[in-house]
Amino acid sequence: MNAREIVPGIYRIGAQDFDRRLFDELIPLPDGTSYNAYLVKGSEKTVLIDTVDPTKSDVLLSQMNGVERLDYLIVQHVEQDHSGSVPAVLDRYPNATLITTPKAKPMLVDHLHINPERIVTVENGETLSLGDRTLEFIHAPWVHWPETMLTYLREEKILFTCDFLGSHLATTELYGREKERVYEAAKRYYAEIMMPFRAMIKGHLEKLARYEIEIIAPSHGPLYDDPAFILDAYRHWVLDPPENLVVLPYVSMHGSTQVMVDHLVSALADRGVRTEPFNMTVTDIGKLAITLVDAATVVFGAPTMLVGPHPSVVYAAYLTNALRPKLRHAAVIGSYGWAGKTMEQVMGLMSSLKVEWFNPLMVKGLPDETALEALDRLAEAIAKRHQSLS
Ligand code: FEO
Repeated sequence: MNAREIVPGIYRIGAQDFDRRLFDELIPLPDGTSYNAYLVKGSEKTVLIDTVDPTKSDVLLSQMNGVERLDYLIVQHVEQDHSGSVPAVLDRYPNATLITTPKAKPMLVDHLHINPERIVTVENGETLSLGDRTLEFIHAPWVHWPETMLTYLREEKILFTCDFLGSHLATTELYGREKERVYEAAKRYYAEIMMPFRAMIKGHLEKLARYEIEIIAPSHGPLYDDPAFILDAYRHWVLDPPENLVVLPYVSMHGSTQVMVDHLVSALADRGVRTEPFNMTVTDIGKLAITLVDAATVVFGAPTMLVGPHPSVVYAAYLTNALRPKLRHAAVIGSYGWAGKTMEQVMGLMSSLKVEWFNPLMVKGLPDETALEALDRLAEAIAKRHQSLS
């Protein structure tokens, strides 16, 4: 894709990666992704904000063919999908100075072997004059690495946010006009990347309230010329209480756990509780993560394999614990063949979350009427707790 002018002298460059389907060898990318870099020309200095994934270096360099002099390269985040082309840019522009946070400097040396003599660090609130334009650096650690920062262009009121507020979405649009699609992609991105750092994100949102922002320019996905769209979404995901929603990751080996899951889903629906079951053999974990953003309760449907939980449910529990959603309650249900410690092991995997555990229900073999009645009682208990969510 060609460079796109945001306002005169400021361009979104970088690459749309329509074909990429996995990030970190873990996160599904149903809509691809983009690696946005930004070229800002001042009356005296020219700056590049971030680069692109190393697989797309040639795209970035070709977009900069007409740029004779680059004074500064700003690195807001060291993860390689944005910094991977830093060496190529520094090679092309041997007089350019790399600007980043004090925490990022050693990381750039470690991860990319950048010559430290080319790096200048900036403190929170420090500014850089480009002549008729001024950049302000805003330290914003843990979105989602410890060294991250944002950059605010004062005159045009553009906020460059690196991963923060972004979305894994490849598109030919500069701004995200398909609102539902952008919202889903941004929520998926938040769930998988930002949610574990919710407390830090809350602080960053409060800090940004002091800035007048007309355009938000993230490093993934389309830009926002209606900043309230994404800022309000983040405030909802981060600050609002969880919803009357149960997320139910499960797997069933011979149908017994499936009977329990089906019964519980139906019993919850009868009591006005929305449930999203995820059969882990066919689940897009991004959708599971999205659902965890809003859910008040998680129920794991875990058959016993050998003497412990089925590995697919172990994966779901481990992921849930790592993503640290706003969950308030949890339960384990499932079937076992002769014995096992499924319940204890699943609960042990959720040690980072402060949740109230409902009584587990592990059934030997095929659930009978007594087991189904116990599931009704579990549904009743969940519905009752959900009545007081606030
Ligand atoms: Fe888009 Fe944390 O890298």
